[in-house]
Amino acid sequence: MTTPIGSLAPTHWYNLAADFPEPVPPPLHPGTREPLRPEDLEHLFPRELINQELSTERFIEIPQAVREVYAKWRPSPLIRADRLERALGTRGRIFYKYEGVSPAGSHKPNTAVAQAWYNAQEGTTRLTTETGAGQWGASLALACSLFGMSCEVWQVRSSYESKPYRRYQMEVYGSTCHSSPSDLTRAGRDVLARDPQTTGSLGMAISEAVEVAAASDDVHYALGSVLNHVMLHQTVIGLEAVAQLRQAGVDQPDVVFGCAGGGSNLAGLSFPFIGRNLTEGASSRVVACEPAACPTITQGEYRYDVGDVAGTTPMMKMYTLGADFVPPAIHAGGLRYHGMAPMVSHAVHLGLMDGVAVSQEDAFAAGLLFARSEGIVPAPESTHAVAAAVEYAREARQGEVILIGLSGNGVLDLPAYEAYL
Ligand SMILES: Cc1ncc(COP(=O)(O)O)c(C=O)c1O
Repeated sequence: MTTPIGSLAPTHWYNLAADFPEPVPPPLHPGTREPLRPEDLEHLFPRELINQELSTERFIEIPQAVREVYAKWRPSPLIRADRLERALGTRGRIFYKYEGVSPAGSHKPNTAVAQAWYNAQEGTTRLTTETGAGQWGASLALACSLFGMSCEVWQVRSSYESKPYRRYQMEVYGSTCHSSPSDLTRAGRDVLARDPQTTGSLGMAISEAVEVAAASDDVHYALGSVLNHVMLHQTVIGLEAVAQLRQAGVDQPDVVFGCAGGGSNLAGLSFPFIGRNLTEGASSRVVACEPAACPTITQGEYRYDVGDVAGTTPMMKMYTLGADFVPPAIHAGGLRYHGMAPMVSHAVHLGLMDGVAVSQEDAFAAGLLFARSEGIVPAPESTHAVAAAVEYAREARQGEVILIGLSGNGVLDLPAYEAYL
């Protein structure tokens, strides 16, 4: 490797595509079913992000302007959960990598800032996107405000109605937020005609945002998860964690838990560790923690599927519950996606990662335990990783190192906790 994995201020993102024992199956054009060509994506994304999407280069330099923004909150803290350890009576050592310190409250700005910057460099003036719980929408709104772009967000109806604070956050950053499905797009109108009472889904909101971006030259689309370039940007989390664990005298975690919606925080934390498993003989186990209500990895099929309801996105080889699957309106809105990132799916398929499904009840119970021992109220999404880690920790061997990806804080999600108090 030219750049070692593990740094407190990474200068490069790490691309696991370089080290997979088999290449990730390519995305296909939804019309021709032929492998996608870079030009097929040009109406939606800037060239540099398309290059990253298809790249198999091991390290990709983080632009200086992006590193300067990261430096406002990165490195994010790696914290020993000693009080949680005592509450559990575990023999293991638990650490968590806390992404809730970003201005938006989650890991999502790691890619939002990069995506907004590359778009701004190419002269794009407006970005469209979808959001579930609103963490991604708020993050892209923040990033667009930093680089002088406007931003239009379609938020899944169930979250739009139950989580107004994220919408206010987007508006504070100067963005516009619509409930999805909306009557502003053909995709939204089609769904509303079929099912006026729908709770919405990320697949529907993606169709709306893509439709609007595809219709204008100066508007691009940004996705908060799933795509390869998003996994890439998030690897700052794991690159820092490798260095921080070393500082704490730990060469490698025995097991890494991350929640998985589209897969980005999990990939960001775990890919550098999987890279070390593949190239340096390390042996960290990685567990993707998903909601039992949307069990993409544990119950989905591994096949080509589209990323949205209208079928306008490329086809990706991934674990999927089917693009028209509408998950129940669980509180962890960011985990309500029918598919899983192709890179995460590939890692699962190759046996480099496992999946576990967590019930909403167990997730919130773990969230409360975590809040009452460590003080941080985890985002409802993050509680899934906490729950799986807590269960594991109860049986851990002496000294075993457990690493949790705490992808965000839940201070704007407190109403979701109310039912579990
Ligand atoms: C705090 C938080 N964690 C996790 C997720 C799930 O997304 P991903 O699997 O891409 O990390 C979200 C999505 O909105 C989120 O807001």
